[in-house]
Amino acid sequence: MLHVDVITLFPEMIEGAANYGVLGQALKSDLLKISTHTPREFAEDRHRTVDDRPFGGGDGMIMLAETLEKSLNKVKHKNSRVIYMSPQGSVLTAQKSRELAQQEHLVILCGRYGGVDQRILNKYVDEEITIGDYVISGGELGALVVIDAVSRFIPGVLGHADSADKDSFSEGLLEHPNFTRPRQWQEQEVPEVLLSGNHKLIEEWKVKVSALVTMKKRPDLFKDYLNKENEDYKALKKKKTGPPLEELQKFWNNLSPQDKESLGLTDFTEDDFHG
Ligand SMILES: C[S@@+](CC[C@H](N)C(=O)[O-])C[C@H]1O[C@@H](n2cnc3c(N)ncnc32)[C@H](O)[C@@H]1O
Repeated sequence: MLHVDVITLFPEMIEGAANYGVLGQALKSDLLKISTHTPREFAEDRHRTVDDRPFGGGDGMIMLAETLEKSLNKVKHKNSRVIYMSPQGSVLTAQKSRELAQQEHLVILCGRYGGVDQRILNKYVDEEITIGDYVISGGELGALVVIDAVSRFIPGVLGHADSADKDSFSEGLLEHPNFTRPRQWQEQEVPEVLLSGNHKLIEEWKVKVSALVTMKKRPDLFKDYLNKENEDYKALKKKKTGPPLEELQKFWNNLSPQDKESLGLTDFTEDDFHG
């Protein structure tokens, strides 16, 4: 079981949102435990102050080191990994989520206002994580994104044992498009191969379609996919038989116009396969 302690001024935001869908199920099945703690419980003055003006001036109040330290000491133990949600952190990725899912205990510190006193970060924080290159008003939404993404990699949380590994990003490619009934919807048909019942063929087809989708939507990711050289990655590529560009081009040429339409993959040119 992964235990996540969230330090926040707005515990209800975390508690309310975590009770739905996959996260809610993970909590019910005791695969995940989330506890919230507010630094206000350690504020000693009448107003339960947890922030103050920044030295040197500037916008926004800064969360006090003292009440944050008391909150951290309440929950932290020797196997804890302490994360600060911060626009200055490394961007959350599938790889990071998978890695965090293997931890025993995460402590997630959510900032508010102008952020937190740097000295608390220096003393306690193992890493800073951002959910993207923009600023939001508090760490809570970010913490929920982290918890959700991480929980998908906890064995047993998703119905199918390896479905998180088939999601977009986990193997360096975006997921292929999906279809459900009816076979024909308005003028669009489900690609024939998906109805063939030939699982090997379908799996190979899906990897190639994933590669084309990634090439089109995220050329940056696709480039990494082709270039990545670390051993793990080679092993994954071997497993998934990452198709070389010429093979992809042949595959795309052989797709029927109808399949290209249904897959949203109509607009490739020769150049795309030679870049
Ligand atoms: C308004 S922000 C403070 C931003 C800070 N003054 C700065 O410019 O770096 C308040 C809090 O929201 C959280 N936060 C804001 N943007 C975030 C992001 N992109 N990812 C994760 N957390 C974020 C952080 O916990 C931060 O302390």
